[in-house]
Amino acid sequence: MMEPYHNNSFPNSKSFLKAGLVFLMSALFFGLVAALQYVLPGIGKEVFSFEKLRPLHVSSAVFWILMTAMGTVLTFLQEIKPFPNTTHRLVKIQFYLFEISFVSILVSYCFGVFGGREYWEFHPIFSIPIVIGWGIFLVNFLTNNKTLKNQPVYVWMWTTGVVFFLFTYIESNLWLIPGIGNRLIQDMTIQWKSYGSMVGAWNMLIYGSSIYLMDKIAGNQKYSQSNMAFGLYFLGLFNLMFNWGHHIYTLPTASYTHIIAYGVSMTELFILGRIIYLWRKSLTFDRKHKHIQAYWFLYAADIWVFINLGLAIAMSIPALNLYMHGTHIIVAHTMGTTIGINTMLLLSFAYDVLGKKQAEIKISTNFKTAFLVTNISLSLFFISLIIAGVLKSYWQFNNPDSSYTLMLNTLRPYFYVFFVSGLSLVFGFMLLIIPLFKSK
Ligand code: HEM
Repeated sequence: MMEPYHNNSFPNSKSFLKAGLVFLMSALFFGLVAALQYVLPGIGKEVFSFEKLRPLHVSSAVFWILMTAMGTVLTFLQEIKPFPNTTHRLVKIQFYLFEISFVSILVSYCFGVFGGREYWEFHPIFSIPIVIGWGIFLVNFLTNNKTLKNQPVYVWMWTTGVVFFLFTYIESNLWLIPGIGNRLIQDMTIQWKSYGSMVGAWNMLIYGSSIYLMDKIAGNQKYSQSNMAFGLYFLGLFNLMFNWGHHIYTLPTASYTHIIAYGVSMTELFILGRIIYLWRKSLTFDRKHKHIQAYWFLYAADIWVFINLGLAIAMSIPALNLYMHGTHIIVAHTMGTTIGINTMLLLSFAYDVLGKKQAEIKISTNFKTAFLVTNISLSLFFISLIIAGVLKSYWQFNNPDSSYTLMLNTLRPYFYVFFVSGLSLVFGFMLLIIPLFKSK
């Protein structure tokens, strides 16, 4: 079995993580401008319409997740066993392929070049460097990790994430083949299935890295060898293959697929939350304080896992589920999980890799303030979206005759809360991100 936690001597991890953080800042900026259009509809639309801002925001968020997840997996992998020179060279190519194509995608949106599908709205030509880049990632990963035998759970998770992402990304592009793109139900089913699996695949990279980091902080391999962690892995794997059931509610598919899909997604979240919780309880004072910033982000992610689980349970009640599509409840769910869970976990990795090594036990007041501002703002942000969503779904089903403008006026106060809490969320995040750029 591999012996982890060597010191990081990998020059490229900084490039991946810092590039990831720049995409996060881009997501925050475009999200804020898009939110401004909620409160002042049409403002600045000649320069940047909502149709441009939304993909700029969502793609930047996805690039933040992918860039940082790739960089973290590579960093942690070479902490276990240093890479040979050939891998270093290939990692550089991998980095530039992603960096150049992601930046070009954002620039192409600014010029109004689209052509893709929801969440991946860029021109399909960009899929070529993405697929090649991920192929190189796969080679880099597999050449430095040749077996799954007796490996801790994070190696299983990383392997699955790296392999499945490539597979499902290609699958999500199958609509380009005319025989598939022309058939609506088949096309939509493949699209949502691949999206669900792609999120499942990047979650494997992120959950695997979380468990690695938890072991590193605790100084033992208790959780990465535990039955509970392997349970999480197998549920995640099942979920990755079948969780699409809850994305295709409107399509005529058997209802048991929805029920199974919901059940599995929720159990997965519950186990992740439970593992972090038990790990927190088991840490000694010293170990915790040596990695206090990464620890705080893992703590926050844990709380957000349970909050999102609560919302997911409410959303899975069939009567409610029917009402909430096309409302802000869905946005609350997507942003609640990508910010509360994914971003918090990714920031814990970024602080582990780029953050200053704690010399003293005390946590700085600046960090504490930024962390609290971020999490309190996120709570208000999340609640305002849920309330706006509930009011809209009520309107959709109970007042179909009253005007859309009237409904929007009822939602306006919640949009203001959304915008203002979004603004302070951006402020909090910036205070957390900037110090990471100062590290050498
Ligand atoms: C880490 C930070 C963030 C991440 C990862 C993130 C992620 C996302 C995702 C995945 C969506 C798509 C939602 C869906 O259609 O289901 C979205 C939409 C959106 N986000 Fe964010 N977001 C972040 C921060 C923000 C901030 C700070 C604001 C505003 C201040 C914001 C405003 C918006 C708006 C306005 C939409 C469009 C909703 C719509 O289509 O009506 N986001 N975000």
